[in-house]
Amino acid sequence: MKHLMDITDLTTSQIDELINTANKIISDPEKYQDTCKRKKLATLFFEPSTRTRLSFEAAMLELGGSVLGFSTSDGSSSVKGESVTDTVQTVGYYADIIAMRHPKEGAPLAASKRTTVPIINAGDGGHSHPTQTLADLLTIQREKGRLANLTVGFCGDLKFGRTVHSLINALSRYEGIEYVFISPKELVIPDYVKAGMLDNNKIKYVETTNIDEFLPKLDILYMTRVQRERFFNEADYIRLKDSYILTPDKLKSAREDLSIMHPLPRVNEISVKVDDDLRACYFKQVKNGKYIRMALILMLLDIKV
Ligand code: CP
Repeated sequence: MKHLMDITDLTTSQIDELINTANKIISDPEKYQDTCKRKKLATLFFEPSTRTRLSFEAAMLELGGSVLGFSTSDGSSSVKGESVTDTVQTVGYYADIIAMRHPKEGAPLAASKRTTVPIINAGDGGHSHPTQTLADLLTIQREKGRLANLTVGFCGDLKFGRTVHSLINALSRYEGIEYVFISPKELVIPDYVKAGMLDNNKIKYVETTNIDEFLPKLDILYMTRVQRERFFNEADYIRLKDSYILTPDKLKSAREDLSIMHPLPRVNEISVKVDDDLRACYFKQVKNGKYIRMALILMLLDIKV
């Protein structure tokens, strides 16, 4: 594997290897502190980010490497009309590996054809965000001790949520996975996800608008933000944005061992009062994101430890 564009670029054994490496880094970070000495990571973010960009940069710094890049398209020559592919070809002469976020689906893939250095898709529009999926998988594995035999509820914007589609793809490879899709009718999971990943693999799922009905059955509840930036119509966004708000009261019917996940940023969909609940895992996802990105950088640079 040269680049990472989508979670489907990774075999199940590569995903397991990344999780294994991340767990080893968590146990013994000092062993990895010079593994990327003199290597440079460029972060090219044409769309806003807090976690993904900074965790990539922290990951490279903790591996002993250095970082360069920009955090808005205004900070690059793209404002003068330079193409993404020219930008990435240029940065490929300065860096050993590139993490890139872009609002246009497929932009990182197009860029990957124009450089010899590994490109990591750090989110392209509504399409894919594979490193968030890796962070989610590491979190599930550490919380549950397994990636199989789980009932996973996804709640919120299941239409535009790129993290939801990627996580379904990854988890569906493991035995005994069942899904509950909770969303307003306007934001249901797309047919291509149902046909391609679920029906073809005979995976059980239900679709509902009612979170209360299925909450007690879940091992994992993966909440998502209704994404204003993906709507064409502000009125629709305002009507749908607060469809589901998780509160301590709502969680009374949930299992003691539920894991509450969210890729963040959140807006209103999880009350801050839930943050102290021992079942809240969303800030663990943030932490795990750095370690899995360290493992990915090592894999793509073919550095064995
Ligand atoms: N989860 C995630 O991608 O967060 P950022 O947009 O802050 O990077």
